[in-house]
Amino acid sequence: MPVLVHVVDHPLVAASLTKVRDENTPNAVFRQELERIGALLLVEATRGLATHEVAVQTPVAMTTGRILTTQPVIVPILRAGLGFVNAAQILIPGADIGFIGISRNEETFEPQPYVNKLPDSIADRVIIVLDPMLATGGSLAHTCRLLYDHGATGPIVVVCALAAPEGILALQDTGMDLQIFTASIDERLNEHAFIVPGLGDAGDRQFGAA
Ligand code: PRP
Repeated sequence: MPVLVHVVDHPLVAASLTKVRDENTPNAVFRQELERIGALLLVEATRGLATHEVAVQTPVAMTTGRILTTQPVIVPILRAGLGFVNAAQILIPGADIGFIGISRNEETFEPQPYVNKLPDSIADRVIIVLDPMLATGGSLAHTCRLLYDHGATGPIVVVCALAAPEGILALQDTGMDLQIFTASIDERLNEHAFIVPGLGDAGDRQFGAA
Protein backbone atom coordinates (compact mmCIF):
# COMPACT_ATOMS: atom_id res chain seq x y z
CA MET A 1 0.00 0.00 0.00
CA PRO A 2 1.36 3.42 -0.88
CA VAL A 3 2.03 6.42 1.32
CA LEU A 4 1.57 9.50 -0.84
CA VAL A 5 2.98 12.79 0.46
CA HIS A 6 1.70 16.13 -0.81
CA VAL A 7 3.68 19.19 0.24
CA VAL A 8 1.32 22.16 -0.02
CA ASP A 9 3.35 24.95 -1.57
CA HIS A 10 1.33 28.14 -1.01
CA PRO A 11 2.42 31.66 0.00
CA LEU A 12 -0.11 31.83 2.86
CA VAL A 13 1.03 28.48 4.22
CA ALA A 14 4.65 29.60 4.02
CA ALA A 15 3.93 32.85 5.87
CA SER A 16 2.02 31.12 8.66
CA LEU A 17 4.64 28.41 8.92
CA THR A 18 7.30 31.06 9.48
CA LYS A 19 5.21 32.47 12.35
CA VAL A 20 4.74 29.13 14.06
CA ARG A 21 8.41 28.23 13.72
CA ASP A 22 9.44 31.48 15.43
CA GLU A 23 10.13 30.82 19.12
CA ASN A 24 9.12 34.42 19.89
CA THR A 25 5.58 33.95 18.60
CA PRO A 26 3.21 34.11 21.61
CA ASN A 27 0.97 31.10 22.20
CA ALA A 28 -2.20 32.99 21.19
CA VAL A 29 -0.70 33.92 17.83
CA PHE A 30 0.76 30.43 17.47
CA ARG A 31 -2.76 28.96 17.78
CA GLN A 32 -4.16 31.36 15.16
CA GLU A 33 -1.39 30.68 12.66
CA LEU A 34 -1.49 26.92 13.23
CA GLU A 35 -5.23 26.96 12.61
CA ARG A 36 -4.67 28.94 9.40
CA ILE A 37 -2.18 26.29 8.23
CA GLY A 38 -4.71 23.60 9.08
CA ALA A 39 -7.41 25.30 7.01
CA LEU A 40 -5.17 25.73 4.00
CA LEU A 41 -3.94 22.13 4.17
CA LEU A 42 -7.50 20.88 4.58
CA VAL A 43 -8.60 22.66 1.42
CA GLU A 44 -6.02 20.60 -0.49
CA ALA A 45 -6.68 17.42 1.49
CA THR A 46 -10.41 17.53 0.67
CA ARG A 47 -10.04 18.29 -3.03
CA GLY A 48 -10.92 14.70 -3.96
CA LEU A 49 -14.13 14.40 -1.89
CA ALA A 50 -16.97 12.91 -3.90
CA THR A 51 -19.93 15.17 -4.71
CA HIS A 52 -23.19 14.70 -6.54
CA GLU A 53 -25.56 17.02 -8.30
CA VAL A 54 -28.68 18.39 -6.63
CA ALA A 55 -31.38 20.82 -7.71
CA VAL A 56 -31.44 24.22 -6.00
CA GLN A 57 -33.97 27.01 -6.23
CA THR A 58 -32.31 30.42 -6.10
CA PRO A 59 -34.47 33.53 -5.56
CA VAL A 60 -34.29 33.91 -9.35
CA ALA A 61 -34.34 30.46 -10.97
CA MET A 62 -33.91 26.75 -10.62
CA THR A 63 -30.36 25.56 -11.13
CA THR A 64 -28.13 22.72 -10.04
CA GLY A 65 -25.35 22.56 -7.46
CA ARG A 66 -23.18 19.91 -5.89
CA ILE A 67 -23.08 18.57 -2.34
CA LEU A 68 -20.81 16.11 -0.55
CA THR A 69 -21.95 12.55 -1.17
CA THR A 70 -20.68 11.32 2.21
CA GLN A 71 -19.64 13.28 5.28
CA PRO A 72 -16.00 12.69 6.27
CA VAL A 73 -14.83 11.65 9.72
CA ILE A 74 -12.30 14.00 11.30
CA VAL A 75 -9.93 12.50 13.86
CA PRO A 76 -7.66 14.86 15.81
CA ILE A 77 -4.86 13.27 17.80
CA LEU A 78 -4.92 14.88 21.27
CA ARG A 79 -3.65 17.24 22.26
CA ALA A 80 -1.93 19.01 19.38
CA GLY A 81 -4.44 17.91 16.73
CA LEU A 82 -7.15 19.94 18.50
CA GLY A 83 -5.57 22.99 16.90
CA PHE A 84 -6.94 21.94 13.50
CA VAL A 85 -10.46 20.98 14.62
CA ASN A 86 -12.08 24.41 14.39
CA ALA A 87 -10.79 24.86 10.84
CA ALA A 88 -12.06 21.40 9.92
CA GLN A 89 -15.52 22.09 11.34
CA ILE A 90 -15.78 25.43 9.55
CA LEU A 91 -14.82 23.84 6.24
CA ILE A 92 -16.83 20.62 6.70
CA PRO A 93 -19.67 21.44 9.10
CA GLY A 94 -21.36 18.06 8.63
CA ALA A 95 -18.31 15.98 9.49
CA ASP A 96 -18.29 13.68 12.50
CA ILE A 97 -15.40 14.04 14.90
CA GLY A 98 -13.61 11.15 16.59
CA PHE A 99 -10.91 11.58 19.21
CA ILE A 100 -7.69 9.68 19.74
CA GLY A 101 -5.49 10.67 22.65
CA ILE A 102 -1.84 9.72 22.49
CA SER A 103 1.08 10.90 24.54
CA ARG A 104 4.54 10.15 23.25
CA ASN A 105 6.84 8.69 25.88
CA GLU A 106 9.72 11.15 25.76
CA GLU A 107 12.30 8.46 26.69
CA THR A 108 11.27 5.59 24.45
CA PHE A 109 9.35 7.78 21.92
CA GLU A 110 6.67 5.06 21.92
CA PRO A 111 3.02 6.18 21.61
CA GLN A 112 0.97 5.82 24.81
CA PRO A 113 -2.76 5.87 23.99
CA TYR A 114 -5.19 7.31 26.57
CA VAL A 115 -8.38 8.21 24.65
CA ASN A 116 -10.28 6.33 21.95
CA LYS A 117 -13.68 7.79 21.07
CA LEU A 118 -14.59 7.12 17.45
CA PRO A 119 -17.91 7.28 15.58
CA ASP A 120 -19.61 3.87 15.36
CA SER A 121 -19.52 3.71 11.59
CA ILE A 122 -16.45 4.81 9.67
CA ALA A 123 -16.48 2.33 6.78
CA ASP A 124 -16.77 3.83 3.30
CA ARG A 125 -16.20 7.33 4.64
CA VAL A 126 -13.22 9.59 4.05
CA ILE A 127 -11.21 9.76 7.26
CA ILE A 128 -9.00 12.77 7.89
CA VAL A 129 -6.51 12.50 10.76
CA LEU A 130 -5.23 15.76 12.23
CA ASP A 131 -1.86 16.04 13.96
CA PRO A 132 0.42 19.04 13.42
CA MET A 133 3.57 16.94 13.95
CA LEU A 134 4.72 13.78 12.18
CA ALA A 135 7.99 13.05 13.99
CA THR A 136 8.86 9.35 14.46
CA GLY A 137 5.44 8.49 13.03
CA GLY A 138 4.57 6.38 16.07
CA SER A 139 1.46 8.38 17.02
CA LEU A 140 0.09 8.42 13.48
CA ALA A 141 0.91 4.76 12.86
CA HIS A 142 -0.93 3.79 16.04
CA THR A 143 -3.92 5.98 15.17
CA CYS A 144 -4.23 4.84 11.57
CA ARG A 145 -3.91 1.18 12.61
CA LEU A 146 -6.75 1.73 15.12
CA LEU A 147 -8.85 3.30 12.38
CA TYR A 148 -8.26 0.42 9.97
CA ASP A 149 -9.07 -2.06 12.77
CA HIS A 150 -12.28 -0.05 13.40
CA GLY A 151 -13.36 -0.53 9.79
CA ALA A 152 -11.80 2.32 7.85
CA THR A 153 -11.82 1.69 4.13
CA GLY A 154 -8.92 3.93 3.20
CA PRO A 155 -6.89 5.58 2.01
CA ILE A 156 -6.71 7.54 5.27
CA VAL A 157 -5.93 11.23 4.79
CA VAL A 158 -3.41 12.73 7.22
CA VAL A 159 -2.99 16.48 7.75
CA CYS A 160 0.18 17.63 9.51
CA ALA A 161 1.96 20.96 9.56
CA LEU A 162 5.40 19.40 9.62
CA ALA A 163 6.75 15.97 8.71
CA ALA A 164 10.15 14.43 9.37
CA PRO A 165 11.63 12.14 6.70
CA GLU A 166 12.09 9.45 9.36
CA GLY A 167 8.38 9.53 10.19
CA ILE A 168 7.34 9.27 6.56
CA LEU A 169 9.61 6.24 6.12
CA ALA A 170 8.19 4.64 9.26
CA LEU A 171 4.64 5.07 7.96
CA GLN A 172 5.68 3.58 4.60
CA ASP A 173 7.00 0.55 6.48
CA THR A 174 3.57 -0.08 8.05
CA GLY A 175 2.11 -0.93 4.65
CA MET A 176 -0.96 1.24 5.31
CA ASP A 177 -2.66 3.21 2.55
CA LEU A 178 -2.18 6.87 3.55
CA GLN A 179 -2.27 10.28 1.89
CA ILE A 180 -0.28 12.86 3.83
CA PHE A 181 -0.78 16.60 3.34
CA THR A 182 1.91 18.73 4.97
CA ALA A 183 3.32 22.24 4.79
CA SER A 184 6.91 21.02 4.96
CA ILE A 185 9.15 17.98 5.05
CA ASP A 186 11.80 19.17 7.47
CA GLU A 187 15.44 18.05 7.67
CA ARG A 188 15.52 15.36 10.33
CA LEU A 189 14.84 14.35 13.93
CA ASN A 190 17.25 15.27 16.70
CA GLU A 191 18.32 12.98 19.56
CA HIS A 192 15.08 13.81 21.42
CA ALA A 193 13.01 12.88 18.35
CA PHE A 194 12.06 16.53 17.86
CA ILE A 195 11.69 17.74 14.29
CA VAL A 196 14.60 19.93 13.08
CA PRO A 197 14.20 22.81 12.45
CA GLY A 198 10.57 22.20 13.41
CA LEU A 199 8.55 24.43 15.68
CA GLY A 200 9.11 22.87 19.11
CA ASP A 201 6.24 21.06 20.84
CA ALA A 202 2.94 21.89 19.13
CA GLY A 203 0.91 20.70 22.14
CA ASP A 204 2.83 22.77 24.65
CA ARG A 205 2.84 25.86 22.44
CA GLN A 206 -0.97 25.73 22.14
CA PHE A 207 -1.96 24.62 25.61
CA GLY A 208 1.06 24.95 27.91
CA ALA A 209 3.64 22.40 29.00
CA ALA A 210 2.20 19.06 30.11
C1 PRP B 1 3.55 15.13 19.88
C2 PRP B 1 2.90 15.68 18.64
C3 PRP B 1 2.44 14.45 17.91
C4 PRP B 1 3.48 13.43 18.31
C5 PRP B 1 4.43 13.26 17.17
O1 PRP B 1 2.57 14.85 20.82
O2 PRP B 1 1.86 16.56 18.93
O3 PRP B 1 1.17 14.00 18.32
O4 PRP B 1 4.18 13.95 19.45
O5 PRP B 1 5.44 12.39 17.51
P1 PRP B 1 5.64 10.97 16.84
O6 PRP B 1 5.45 11.13 15.37
O7 PRP B 1 7.06 10.65 17.20
O8 PRP B 1 4.66 10.02 17.46
P2 PRP B 1 2.89 14.74 22.37
O9 PRP B 1 3.17 13.33 22.75
O10 PRP B 1 3.93 15.75 22.75
O11 PRP B 1 1.51 15.08 23.02
P3 PRP B 1 0.68 16.46 23.03
O12 PRP B 1 0.12 16.64 21.64
O13 PRP B 1 -0.35 16.22 24.06
O14 PRP B 1 1.64 17.57 23.40
